[in-house]
Amino acid sequence: MSARILDGNALATRLRGQLAERTARLKEQGVEACLAVILVGDDPASAVYVRNKVAACEKAGIRSLKDVYPSDADPATVLERIRALNEDPGVHGILVQLPLPAHFDEAAILEAIRVDKDVDGFHAENVGLLSQGREAFIPCTPYGVMKMLESESVPVQGAEAVVVGRSNIVGKPMAMLLINAGATVTVCNSKTRDLAAHCRRADILVAAVGRPRFITGDLVKPGAVVIDVGINRLTEGEEAGKLCGDVDFASASQVASLITPVPGGVGPMTITMLLTNTVESAERVAARGQRA
Ligand code: GUN
Repeated sequence: MSARILDGNALATRLRGQLAERTARLKEQGVEACLAVILVGDDPASAVYVRNKVAACEKAGIRSLKDVYPSDADPATVLERIRALNEDPGVHGILVQLPLPAHFDEAAILEAIRVDKDVDGFHAENVGLLSQGREAFIPCTPYGVMKMLESESVPVQGAEAVVVGRSNIVGKPMAMLLINAGATVTVCNSKTRDLAAHCRRADILVAAVGRPRFITGDLVKPGAVVIDVGINRLTEGEEAGKLCGDVDFASASQVASLITPVPGGVGPMTITMLLTNTVESAERVAARGQRA
């Protein structure tokens, strides 16, 4: 079997077009959706992600503010900036790019962000709301994966779903969303005993383990839906410099029914869901303004 490819670029383009219409309507009501992005340090990958987020905002009609701090910045300075953004009624979303330098208390920074501006969904209160299946800002990457499954009408209720990876950013919220949608969910990691047996049971297999081509075709159940969240840059051999996912696409695509490529799969959806959360936050503010 040769899998169909789930094109994240095409879906992201469609959804971003709809967001641009929503930001235009907000402007007619006097609200300009605005996202504030904070970057600390000089991690090159983080700088690229932030640049892409800011550029995507502009295209979707969202104003963005960008604050860049050196890697030896005083956490108190960043906290002060977050507090000012919390108080600013013109700012609808606040995002602190991770990872932060080691001398930062990541949880304290994330929890300084107002819950109703936490468009990354990383604040402990939003994490708790999500785990209870209540309304919350949903972390962008797993939210994007759910949108991709929805776009292909993949049945989630009753499905066996296996998530490989247990990070706060992807693995854990991904598992919560799948649980909330009625899947039977197993969360594995790179050290899981007999990982292959778990993976081979999966109707929906999500790879978010951060290891290049870790999930090979022999771990995929025939006809499974395979979602590759990994973005790894190869450093050795003829392919040095090339991006690849956590899934070995060549072998997995022979077995799966539907598979996301890297690049062009989940990646573009992550930013799309960040824009979605920001627009939703701005719409809530606009609705409050109309009621006032
Ligand atoms: N670092 C890696 N992924 C993310 C993300 O989705 N949001 C933030 N803020 N930092 C990240």
